[in-house]
Amino acid sequence: MAISESVKPLELAVVVPTFNEAANLKELIGRLERTLSDIQWEMIVVDDDSPDGTAALLRDLALTHPQVRCLRRVGRRGLSSACIEGMLSTHAPLLAVMDADLQHDESLLPLMVTALQKEGYDLAVGTRYMDGGGVGDWDTGRQTTSHLATQLGQWWLKVSLRDPMSGFFMVRRTAFEAAVYDLSSLGFKLLLDLVVSSPQPLKVKEIPLQFRQRHAGESKLDQRVAFDYLMLLVDKTVGRFVPVSLLSFGLIGLLGVPVHLGVLRLAMLWRDWPFLQAQILAVVVAMVFNFYLNNTLTYRDQKLQGWRWWVGLIKFMATCGIGAIANVGIANAVYDDFGGWIVSSLAGILVGFGWNYGATALLVWPKRRPKPKVPPPLA
Ligand code: GDD
Ligand code: MN
Repeated sequence: MAISESVKPLELAVVVPTFNEAANLKELIGRLERTLSDIQWEMIVVDDDSPDGTAALLRDLALTHPQVRCLRRVGRRGLSSACIEGMLSTHAPLLAVMDADLQHDESLLPLMVTALQKEGYDLAVGTRYMDGGGVGDWDTGRQTTSHLATQLGQWWLKVSLRDPMSGFFMVRRTAFEAAVYDLSSLGFKLLLDLVVSSPQPLKVKEIPLQFRQRHAGESKLDQRVAFDYLMLLVDKTVGRFVPVSLLSFGLIGLLGVPVHLGVLRLAMLWRDWPFLQAQILAVVVAMVFNFYLNNTLTYRDQKLQGWRWWVGLIKFMATCGIGAIANVGIANAVYDDFGGWIVSSLAGILVGFGWNYGATALLVWPKRRPKPKVPPPLA
């Protein structure tokens, strides 16, 4: 008998994204081993170089738990992109995604496997918003936000899933691969992204999920997740035509206008400053404002921190200063040649904006691989 015939084929990969989840992994692995004892499975932990040493701990655990593998990403952040890369790294025909913090009930995994292997479904979703499911002890604020976000997603993207925000699901590898080129991979909502990007409608089984309390550590969900979510919705609708970072950059640029005008007015009225001085202050404040928001939102995955923040700010101001010179130059040239103050001015703004976006993407937020602040200990 050939060796390959004696080995049972792999059936399932459980992809677990992690950022600072060292305190939860041992318990999670133990639970998966108990629940999946009849299934050939592996676990792919995708760790974004957590400073708490999650990856080093996994290396130790994997020595005695052969199902466990760690995919460590350096200089990267992002829940959806982590899951996608984990899913691409395995050969298993079924791919599950679940959080590391034990909020997702692992006993649903065998039900999901049955739904996909025996009942002909393409996707099984742990669903909080159905009979038998629930959100546990969430405060009303988070409940309302989650409901609103769910309804917005269902309406905007015409999705009928009852819980498109769920982070716990299992998908057939063929269905995932059919969608993979169209995934936005922005933010936290991979399930929604997957369902919308799928070229054919997926046969979905919804299984009630009682969302549990986080076991140890802290949630990484913050206000930026809301912004990422909006960007996902936008990307899924107009992303084919315009990159979402350009839209975000433009939107933040527009927000800078009232900030500029507000500072200008205040400086003139309240401080009695002459126009020129007030205008200079307004430009500086608006630039800092724009830099801050772009760093926090548009380029969240490459966010500059510490001294790099200051270097980034200086580079941003210098780049945008050149953009302003280009703006005036182009506007003036168009005005001289064709006249028309609105068209000339808009032409200047367009060129300045294009320069600011392109040049800052290259110079201020280039893709880079910084060393972690606390290198994980050597095993
Ligand atoms: N690799 C990686 N990179 N993992 C991350 C990142 C990241 O940037 N951010 C978060 N994670 C991991 C966490 O370590 C955890 O295992 C999982 O992703 C979910 O993050 P939590 O911080 O626990 O999020 P949550 O519990 O608030 O949100 C969960 O529930 C939401 C439903 O309300 C997630 O499952 C969401 O996807 C889901 O929408
Ligand atoms: Mn969680």
